[in-house]
Amino acid sequence: MIEYRPLRVALLGAGSVGAQVADQLLTHRDELAARIGASIELAGVAVRSLDAKRDTDIPRELLTTDAESLILGADIVVEVMGGLEPARTLILQALTSGADVITANKALLATHGPELFEAAGQVGAQLYYEAAVGGAIPIIRPLRDSLAGDRVQRILGIVNGTTNFILDRMDAHGESMEEALATATALGYAEADPTADVGGYDAAQKAAILASLAFHTLVPADAVYREGITEVTLEQVVAARKAGYVVKLLAICEQLVDPATGQRGVSARVHPALIPLSHPLAAVHGANNAVFVEAEAAGSLMFYGAGAGGIQTASAVLGDVVSAARRHVVGGPGVAESTHADLPVLPISAVTTRYQIALQVADEPGVLAVIAALFQSHGVSVETVQQAVSVVDPAVDPARAGQALGAATLVIGTHEASEADLAATVAALSTSSVVHSVTSVLRVEGL
Ligand code: NDP
Ligand code: HSE
Repeated sequence: MIEYRPLRVALLGAGSVGAQVADQLLTHRDELAARIGASIELAGVAVRSLDAKRDTDIPRELLTTDAESLILGADIVVEVMGGLEPARTLILQALTSGADVITANKALLATHGPELFEAAGQVGAQLYYEAAVGGAIPIIRPLRDSLAGDRVQRILGIVNGTTNFILDRMDAHGESMEEALATATALGYAEADPTADVGGYDAAQKAAILASLAFHTLVPADAVYREGITEVTLEQVVAARKAGYVVKLLAICEQLVDPATGQRGVSARVHPALIPLSHPLAAVHGANNAVFVEAEAAGSLMFYGAGAGGIQTASAVLGDVVSAARRHVVGGPGVAESTHADLPVLPISAVTTRYQIALQVADEPGVLAVIAALFQSHGVSVETVQQAVSVVDPAVDPARAGQALGAATLVIGTHEASEADLAATVAALSTSSVVHSVTSVLRVEGL
């Protein structure tokens, strides 16, 4: 029997995600009420245009362009409009009026998170954001609640579906970067302007959110080292597979000690990386996301599923609605964000990892020794060396096809080395007289 008063929910946005949230709030009303112990009343849906076509049927009388008035008196405000403003101002107004807020807006959280959490903390309101990272995948609550008693050491995540789709097309279908991006656009995965995805900005915002939660430390998005996938070539992807790896855009958050200074801190970085085909993340295909968490007591955990999509993301939003509504009914302070560790965010130069470097070199006696000496002099230990003699491509010169060119391709795998030492090694290789060109430098993760 339901005794609590109906809870008023204001929905800001009725696009891909919002239209599905509205639909579920309306059609699953009784079931949600039974789970919550109070009924949910969708007070209204703020949009930019009352006449825009919607993915689901939303009663016309619920639509409004006056978001500010809609949030007045709401118990729960769901922000799925996106962008920084007016989302930030509306959320601040909602929180300061005591409403709990649910948002899927990673850009806003990565930019203005501390201000929003502070506003929530001052009035004892809660800010929920399960949908902001990994779409439908439960990852925020596991990090914030389930692992709150453990120590997270490292997170390796595929947190951008568009770039995973593109790299997967290159790997599985032999498409070039341009062809794979065109496929992603045609199938609706990539936006008309794909910069946020292919440039790694979206993944960096998500990495900032994950690192902040995992390490109880504020990690701003602009402290996340970022490289996108635009420089990844089909040749690198093909060579990776031959060597037993796959190229993925990874978000890597870890606790580490800077080898140069001895300072302990956290690091968050987003860049393409090689991972072994045997690693669980190598099996993440298409536009799916996965987050691999290593914790001191729990060991390795992997969270996998749809990282985007209107109805999938609505699942995460609805979970937050139920949590917020239950808090109204049964009370309690909810879960506070914690930044108690307050560790420094270390620069990329503090990171140590393995690398794979491909070089075009002169095929002459003594070349390997020169190159080995360059690695040694910069303190980088070589683990593997593969050499293939370069021959004339039949497509270029059929008459000389297969003839030796006096050059060779060397692929050198390193043991763990610091970014600083590796960068110095690559700089030295680039100017060495025996090296024609450094054709690829990729970090290797997940070994
Ligand atoms: P859409 O662009 O599809 O929808 C945005 C909605 O917000 C539209 O209904 C729009 O109104 C409304 N809106 C935008 N600006 C205003 C404004 N100033 N005043 C009132 N209404 C406004 O976005 P999505 O649904 O794709 O994304 C929403 C949020 O969810 C974003 O933060 C996104 O990052 C996040 N997210 C999205 C995922 C996805 O798969 N789409 C996955 C995970 C997170 P109108 O319709 O009239 O234009
Ligand atoms: N553009 C994002 C992606 C959507 O490709 O993963 C989900 O945040």
